[in-house]
Amino acid sequence: MSAIAVKPLPSATFGGLIKTDGAAAFVATAEAEPRRLSTALNDGHGLLVLKGLHGIAGEPDLLLRLSRLFGSEVENYRLTATEPNLVHAGIPEILVLSNMAPHNRMPPAQPDPPRRGDGGLPIQFPHRRGWHTDQSFRRPPPDISLFYAVHSAPKGQGQTLYADGIGAYENLPADLKDAVEGLEGLHIVPGSGRAEYDVRAGKTPRELESREAPQRQPVIRVHPETGTKALYLCEAGQMDWIEGPLVGMEPGIHGDGAALLYELMEHYTSDAFTYAHDWDDGDMVIYDNRSTIHSATWFDAENHDRLMWRTTVWGNPGPLYDGEERSWMVA
Ligand SMILES: [Fe+2]
Repeated sequence: MSAIAVKPLPSATFGGLIKTDGAAAFVATAEAEPRRLSTALNDGHGLLVLKGLHGIAGEPDLLLRLSRLFGSEVENYRLTATEPNLVHAGIPEILVLSNMAPHNRMPPAQPDPPRRGDGGLPIQFPHRRGWHTDQSFRRPPPDISLFYAVHSAPKGQGQTLYADGIGAYENLPADLKDAVEGLEGLHIVPGSGRAEYDVRAGKTPRELESREAPQRQPVIRVHPETGTKALYLCEAGQMDWIEGPLVGMEPGIHGDGAALLYELMEHYTSDAFTYAHDWDDGDMVIYDNRSTIHSATWFDAENHDRLMWRTTVWGNPGPLYDGEERSWMVA
């Protein structure tokens, strides 16, 4: 019997929920059962929501200790071609996502249409944009992200949307399952000028350094621990819309590859496979980048500050990547 109780995540078809009695005690309990959280993460198709971890805000080392339970390496963002102003000043394993200086990371625009019938922000692609899996522009990509709210936006704003790639793959219509078998996507670092909206705007792409070269990734990812298959895709900002988005298909924004990607994304992000997380301070969402995608939503950054911390854990991308050099460390 585990000391950590995991319940199904309410309002979702996937994911687990853990209510904690405080950060320090919870981290010590998790360390005493080092496989418990990864097993719960796998059971939840790659999504775990933890509540009540306010103590991490004053003791960020607790975040690192939790992160280490998910893999062999908690990434140092000073070594992963990350914009320096997004890296925590004292702890380089923490990425800081905030509208506050010096991070100055602004939320996405309010989507159009701005609201669903129930008053919420839209979730399904293409009305909701920005769906991605973290750092898929690197080979091998990171496995797990731990995302923590030091200070959240008001309710209904600054949500994070998650989609279940395992459920979405299992429920793909047979013709689409056939279409994605063996297919690869071409992923690219944001800001390259090769995003869908850049191509649409006729922007000239910038010269890429060799460590930023577009990377092929399988559209179906096989989970190295469970053997389950999940859709592994991004959309506008993190796919290469000049040579891709899908390898071997007609490229560009009007090509067959774009049409298939749109069809897959619309399915992947439908209500049956998605969850919208409304953050409270002290929440942590742990998500498996090998089997989920996510997207940020708008918040009123003129009037509200938001401060989020993220770590990424690397080390078990699966045999497909065995023996590969780290693409982002190529000279
Ligand atoms: Fe992300």
